[in-house]
Amino acid sequence: MESSPYELRKFVPNDLQGIMQINRVCLPENYTDFFFIDLHQRFPETFIVAEEKGKFLGYIMCRIEVGLSNMGLGGLVRKGHVVSIAVMPQARRRGVAQAVINKALEGMKYYKAKQAFLEVRVTNEPAISLYKKLCFEISRTINGYYSDGEDAYVMTKKLS
Ligand code: ACO
Ligand code: ZN
Repeated sequence: MESSPYELRKFVPNDLQGIMQINRVCLPENYTDFFFIDLHQRFPETFIVAEEKGKFLGYIMCRIEVGLSNMGLGGLVRKGHVVSIAVMPQARRRGVAQAVINKALEGMKYYKAKQAFLEVRVTNEPAISLYKKLCFEISRTINGYYSDGEDAYVMTKKLS
């Protein structure tokens, strides 16, 4: 039998428990159910899940913010903030993260964002490699960003 590829689609509220489970398994930064639902209600186009045979493989959720462009785009611009992305350990290195980010970047453009950014732990080599592959660049370091004291890189990408 041929293996069917995973499905990429927008988050729906029924996905909440499954997505919160991926978040708990994969990341030390966890959030309340209100936080997930609020991001979904405000920015449904950038909350994407990957699913295969009824099982969740990964997700990305984002927020659109307004701020000064640090990329020479002039004045106040809309920015797409990748709040959280994760892929289950058994589903990694199959391009799932790359696929959910690319779909979320399209959603950011739908919201008229001119650039995308995120914070990542300075020791998180898989994630930093992923973002570099997608042409994000390190723009600065935030000392002690995480609650355990670790520093973050802010990584940024222009949206065309
Ligand atoms: N080592 C080196 N490079 C990597 C690795 C790794 N372990 N994982 C991904 N990459 C790079 C590679 O260039 C890869 O391309 P290749 O496989 O052709 O070499 C490219 O990223 C794309 O990889 P994907 O298969 O799309 O990535 P994956 O689906 O495995 O998910 C992720 C990557 C999300 C970082 C996953 O490892 C994960 O969930 N980690 C734990 C959670 C996490 O750290 N999330 C990011 C936190 S920062 C934030 O949320 C803003
Ligand atoms: Zn952030």
